[in-house]
Amino acid sequence: MEVIIKETPEEMSRLSAELIAEVIRHKPRAVLGLATGSTPLGTYKELIRLHKQEGLDFSRVVTFNLDEYVGLAHDHPQSYHYFMWENLFKHININAKNVHIPDGTAKDIPGFCRWYEEQMVKAGGLDIQLLGIGGNGHIAFNEPGSSLGSRTRVKTLDEKTRQDNARFFRSLNEVPKYAITMGIGTIMDSRQLILLATGSGKAEAILRTCEGPITAMVPATIVQLHPKATIIVDKQAASKLTREYPAEPSVLVLA
Ligand code: PGA
Repeated sequence: MEVIIKETPEEMSRLSAELIAEVIRHKPRAVLGLATGSTPLGTYKELIRLHKQEGLDFSRVVTFNLDEYVGLAHDHPQSYHYFMWENLFKHININAKNVHIPDGTAKDIPGFCRWYEEQMVKAGGLDIQLLGIGGNGHIAFNEPGSSLGSRTRVKTLDEKTRQDNARFFRSLNEVPKYAITMGIGTIMDSRQLILLATGSGKAEAILRTCEGPITAMVPATIVQLHPKATIIVDKQAASKLTREYPAEPSVLVLA
C-alpha cells in the first residue's frame, strides 16, 4: 500500500487521473471501477481534459460503478446513474453498452446483484477501482461492520452516511435508506485500487486506514491487504498521519 500526500485536491485529482489513463493507454479495453461523490469529481474533470485535449480513447473501455441508491430512477438528479452521465460519460467517447451501474430499480435485487458480479467476471475482472472514503471509514456503501469478504448486495445506509449525503437532497427524509453496493471482496478482486480523500473531515478515517489495524469497523482498512493500492490524499486529509509519506508514487508510472 502506498500513501501519497499532495498539497491540494487538484494535484490529487491529476495524479489519480494519470494512474487511470496509464491503465487505459496500456489496455484500451480496460475495465474501470468507478465511484461517485464529491471526491472523484476532479479526477473525472481531468479524464475529460485528457480525452478532449490529448485524445485519451474510451471507445473500448468498460466500466462498473460501485453503488447506487435503491428506489431512485436513473434520471433522478441524485441517482448515481445521473451523476456518472453528467460528470463523466457524456463528455467522453464511451460506448453506453460498456457502462454498468447497479440498478436501484431492479425488481429482483438479489438476482441483479448476482448478475452484476457475473458481468465483472465476464469482462475479465476490474483492472483498476477508484474509491472515496466515508467519514466513518466506509468504502462504497460498505458501512462499518460489513463483512470484509462481502460481494455485491443490498445494504442499509448508516445514519451518519445518510446525514452526510442529505446535503444533496431537499431533506434527510428524502435520502434513501438502502443501496446496492459492490462488496468489500468484490473491490479487493480489482487488480489495482486508488483511494482518494480530501479535507479535514476525512483525516480520522485516513489515519485509521493508513496506520490503524485492519478491522471491519473501518472497512477501508482492508486496502492494507491489497497488493497494488495507492491512497492519495490532500494535506488536510493527511493532517492526522504520524509517519512520513512521499508526494509521488515510488515507481513513477507517469508517461
Ligand atoms: P464524498 O463521499 O466523496 O462525497 O466525500 C465519499 C464516500 O462516502 O465514499
